[in-house]
Amino acid sequence: MTRTRRVDGPSSDSDSRRPMKSGASKKNSRKNPLAAIVLAAGKGTRMHSSRSKVLHTALGVPLVCHAVDRARELGATPAVAVLGHQIEAVSAVLTARYGDAVRSTEQKEQRGTGHAARIGLASLKGFSGTVLILYGDTPLLTVATLRKLVAASEKKGALAILTAELENPKGYGRIVRHHSNPGDVRVVEDRDCTDEERSIREINAGMYAAPVEFLRKATAKLSPKNSQNELYLTDIVAHAARTVGAVTVLAASEEILGINDRRELVRAEKILQQRVHDTVMEHATLRDPDSTTIEADVIIEADVEIARGVALRGKTRIGAGARIGEGVILNNVIVGAGTEIKAYCVGENSVVGPDCKIGPFAHLRPGTDLGPSVHMGNFVETKNSKLGKGSKANHLAYIGDTDIGIGVNVGAGTITCNYNGYEKQRTIIEDGAFIGSDSQLVAPVRIGRQAIVAAGTTVTEDVPSRALAVSRTAQRHVPGYADRVAARYGKKLSDGKLG
Ligand code: UD1
Ligand code: CA
Repeated sequence: MTRTRRVDGPSSDSDSRRPMKSGASKKNSRKNPLAAIVLAAGKGTRMHSSRSKVLHTALGVPLVCHAVDRARELGATPAVAVLGHQIEAVSAVLTARYGDAVRSTEQKEQRGTGHAARIGLASLKGFSGTVLILYGDTPLLTVATLRKLVAASEKKGALAILTAELENPKGYGRIVRHHSNPGDVRVVEDRDCTDEERSIREINAGMYAAPVEFLRKATAKLSPKNSQNELYLTDIVAHAARTVGAVTVLAASEEILGINDRRELVRAEKILQQRVHDTVMEHATLRDPDSTTIEADVIIEADVEIARGVALRGKTRIGAGARIGEGVILNNVIVGAGTEIKAYCVGENSVVGPDCKIGPFAHLRPGTDLGPSVHMGNFVETKNSKLGKGSKANHLAYIGDTDIGIGVNVGAGTITCNYNGYEKQRTIIEDGAFIGSDSQLVAPVRIGRQAIVAAGTTVTEDVPSRALAVSRTAQRHVPGYADRVAARYGKKLSDGKLG
């Protein structure tokens, strides 16, 4: 079982949650090259956060990555992120997720969306094809909508503008069409609107697709003659209407929701979560979706059953037919096919093989790597440890920095003493060994193949293969001792009914 997964687009798009991975084939099916520019230089003042707005996560994925993921699912390559506020932190997140497949470029001074687009275009030197322009703070956009936008542009070589009809269009640029010629369209910013324009409910979502040559020419011509003294990207719309043509693509109002504050962030996250649940329930059972968290990068294979109160985070992957019990919390855990994780287990950065039985109340700490058919019972904690095929630790144990072979039995109450106050040391337990209950294994130490450690033993030296290790004082009996104690307190032990 491998922990690596493709970096080119794990996401909430429906396909990537299915057992089969289909992102790659779509990508190759594009004839015309597509690039994307994601505008994300803004600060996001209304988040009241020390962190850049676009680094806040929705369903475990930073906002800016939602935009980049959608673009990449559409086959956009390269993708360019225009960054400003906290550029180091944001570009580090992008590099961690995409490697060098996504370029970061800096907009030092925020002189408007048109200026930001120009800077993005400068990073696309030599590119010829269609460019998709997105914002880093609109995580609800779907690939299907963006695909329509790109298709609308490519059909006519025109500028395609994403629009939406809003009950309350306040704050948005309005789509103003010439009364007798609907192709004559322009965008007027809210603050620059006449009263009549302000009553228009069709708004500019701020996302566009256009041939790169048009964008280069049109953004070069922008001027800051407006109330904000900025370069408005929206001015390219009127320019397109006069030249290559401007077409609008209407999106559902929900999709274009930009995140400005934490309330909107959580609202968007809820919608994303519902979409993921809906997709997952095509092929897996969620007993109580309302209480189930499944983050955007999680993959659920076919025929999985998930009980209520479960949280699956990060790059967790649940293998076919696995069952996840109530209250289980997994973060970056790969679970093999057919495995059962019983109620209230917690796991992080771990791998669980196929056909295992884990829990209830087991704790898989980072670096746990369980082979096939491992049994791990209640109150067993593992960390940075391997358990080979069929090995068992069924009750109350701490297994840290340990390599356990196949078919090993770890008795109740076994503790690996891996830390001496200064450094961690490893314990090795070879195939078929039997560790009796309440043993302490003081690392570094090796238990040989098929060796037996007697219950209650403190192992400080390597145990040879097939040997018995026993370290406990011999048992002795003091006859009548209980009577002597009772007599000391003026009592007599009766042989009659106890209690
Ligand atoms: C913009 C549109 C408006 C549209 C609205 C939709 C313009 C002039 N107006 O307005 O028609 O209805 O989006 O949400 O384009 N950004 C930069 N650098 C800048 C300025 C902005 O990277 O210099 C980024 C921001 O980080 C943000 C996006 O561009 O992600 C939009 O910027 P914002 O200032 O929110 O634009 P609006 O004024 O809302
Ligand atoms: Ca905005």
